[in-house]
Amino acid sequence: MYTELCKKLDIDVPIFAFTHCRDVVVEVSKAGGIGVFGAAFVNSLEELKEELDWIDAHIGDHIYGFDIVIPNNAVGQGSGMSAAEQENKLWEMIPQEHTDFTNKMIDEHGVPQWHDDSRPPMGAWTMEQVMPMLEDALKRPKCKVIVNALGTPPDHVTKMVQDSGRLIGALTGTKKHAKAHKEAGLDFIVANGSEGGGHCGEIGSIVCWPELVDAVAPMPVIAAGGIGNGRQMLAAMGMGAAGVWTGSLWLTVEEAHAQMAQKESYLKAESTDAVTTKSWTGKNCRLLRNDWSEAWKDPANPDPLPFPLQLLLTSDLRRRSAMYASAGDTQKIADNGCGQVIGQINEIESCRGVVSRLIGEYVDALEALNGLMPE
Ligand SMILES: Cc1cc2nc3c(=O)[nH]c(=O)nc-3n(C[C@H](O)[C@H](O)[C@H](O)COP(=O)(O)O)c2cc1C
Repeated sequence: MYTELCKKLDIDVPIFAFTHCRDVVVEVSKAGGIGVFGAAFVNSLEELKEELDWIDAHIGDHIYGFDIVIPNNAVGQGSGMSAAEQENKLWEMIPQEHTDFTNKMIDEHGVPQWHDDSRPPMGAWTMEQVMPMLEDALKRPKCKVIVNALGTPPDHVTKMVQDSGRLIGALTGTKKHAKAHKEAGLDFIVANGSEGGGHCGEIGSIVCWPELVDAVAPMPVIAAGGIGNGRQMLAAMGMGAAGVWTGSLWLTVEEAHAQMAQKESYLKAESTDAVTTKSWTGKNCRLLRNDWSEAWKDPANPDPLPFPLQLLLTSDLRRRSAMYASAGDTQKIADNGCGQVIGQINEIESCRGVVSRLIGEYVDALEALNGLMPE
């Protein structure tokens, strides 16, 4: 499984770990893969600097990636306003009916109040919020890969990253967008099958991966969506992937910061519990079914707002459900993003344990396949 991409990046195995947790980034990179730090829920440049300073200080000689969200389609994007003005404007666009419904759900589920009356932060989901963060990441020698979610990065972003000597890629689940990524000159794509956690499309991995590999060849394709063991990794590599990109696998590891109540929700979930809903961000997103995702399907309740308004609407619940994961019925309305592979994840492992398990299972599966070859 030592691919060209491993050689380019000087990593032992092409296992990419997407995570919002800095400890996971460090531990996966130290174990021979590459941790990719997701900036979506980082609330300011200062906060990002703190996270990346910590990673730089703990990762030794290893490298890491940085994942940003510059969406192709978002209400208010490109309006020429500053990040703060844009955020204020977006807040004004949220109907009272939606706020009232959200607050009612939160109250009914006994989620404790936030400890002060600060407005919940939005995170980094627009070009205006992301650019200063990207500029900071590009000053860090160990940050070697940039990945964009939710669309093809603008040309000036791609140029800026490549001029700095780094690789840039982007996620997609469709041939059309994969070709757009290729035409934009990206270095690789992440082919994200529908079973994956977080934002996702509709095409399952077993169809998506080879279709996208063929569509953009010889560009490297990293396979994502539904990889939780070495057999699934072998399947991806067998379909022509240059590596695997994993998200759900790292939600329950020892090093993940989440509270135990949230990890327990994941550990006891079945694959059928990971459903898609627009109720958290306004875009289709896969997460654990609960009272929150179900309530937004009921025609008697409001419809989810377009992205990123729904993201803003849910920002207070998101911070409260993370902070008070075990209080009241918080887990019944918590933002527990994950893919269908969550049904396979039933115990807490370390990052190093997961990486070596994947490699061991991959080798065993490959040997079993080789054993099927005629003499
Ligand atoms: C909780 C959660 C949050 C995610 N947030 C992002 C994100 O901010 N940016 C991104 O590129 N992908 C995000 N993803 C998607 C992952 O990068 C990855 O494509 C997906 O998890 C792969 O499928 P898997 O969950 O089956 O491993 C997220 C996934 C999860 C589970």
